[in-house]
Amino acid sequence: MSDPRAPATPRRHLLSIADLSREDVERILDTAASLAASLDREMKKLPTLRGRTVVNLFYESSTRTLASFELAAKRLSADTMSIRSSGSSVDKGESLKDTALTLAAYEPDVIVVRHPSIGAPHLVARHTDAHVVNAGDGKHQHPTQALLDLYTMREALGRLEGLRVAVVGDVLHSRVARSLVQALALVGGETVLVGPPTLVPRGIEGLGCEITHDIAAAAGADVVYVLRMQHERMGEAFVPSLREYTALYGITPERVSPRQVVMHPGPMNRGIEIDPRVADSEQALVTDQVRAGLVVRMAVLYDVLTVAPVESRERAGVA
Ligand code: NCD
Repeated sequence: MSDPRAPATPRRHLLSIADLSREDVERILDTAASLAASLDREMKKLPTLRGRTVVNLFYESSTRTLASFELAAKRLSADTMSIRSSGSSVDKGESLKDTALTLAAYEPDVIVVRHPSIGAPHLVARHTDAHVVNAGDGKHQHPTQALLDLYTMREALGRLEGLRVAVVGDVLHSRVARSLVQALALVGGETVLVGPPTLVPRGIEGLGCEITHDIAAAAGADVVYVLRMQHERMGEAFVPSLREYTALYGITPERVSPRQVVMHPGPMNRGIEIDPRVADSEQALVTDQVRAGLVVRMAVLYDVLTVAPVESRERAGVA
């Protein structure tokens, strides 16, 4: 394996799906698949990132994303620490730049950032020498979610090329939807965004997808990807009532066919955007997505820290 510390190695970040080529996406998914195989063994830890430090800097609530980044770093033997906005100096009004400069003094190799403002991870990348991974910035991007979603689809359906995905719901506030549309376009999949006119922003087709306000369009998809209604980002009423939203767009057993799979990034609002009978059905891949989050984030941490060609990764036993 090439020494990931070698000074000649360019500093790589994962700030947006736009940073990736199709080849990058496929390499990360393949690395994740071989990591999954190694996790099946009893010994769940690999020495790959021993001596490296991964800092998680989370300014927004998170369960899955933070837990999986933390565990991903540990499984690769990196030292890791997580800083949440509450209980840190962020509470005392320290700016993101000052927090980044403070953390930089500990010389972390990777900083994983979640923040309500668009571009916050880019700012951290400018003010530190760390490799920065975006774990969600406002409604802009959530690239590791899109990668774990592709991984889950590939595992369940055996392909990505030609796959048709209906993304249903609160597209307006969703970084997950934006990242997923771009990621699917890269690997030859198609996306149709479905939701009420107030929640599907005009112009979003420019990312490489179709839009419709008719839930019937979901019937033609291989995957029904349900988005959470993001109450916390809704300053004004975007839908007349949640009850009406559920009646028009809620994913019920009647709205999915047995040949489709259903996904949701979590956390789910059961009974609002997704009927519990669908969420708990065999067709739902929600738990598979959570499991994929761990191996895909391990692959991303590894990938940003190494720009090794495929053959040397194979020699290192990782790819
Ligand atoms: C998503 C997020 O935070 O953007 N959740 C997640 O990362 N699992 C989606 C959401 O909050 O609706």
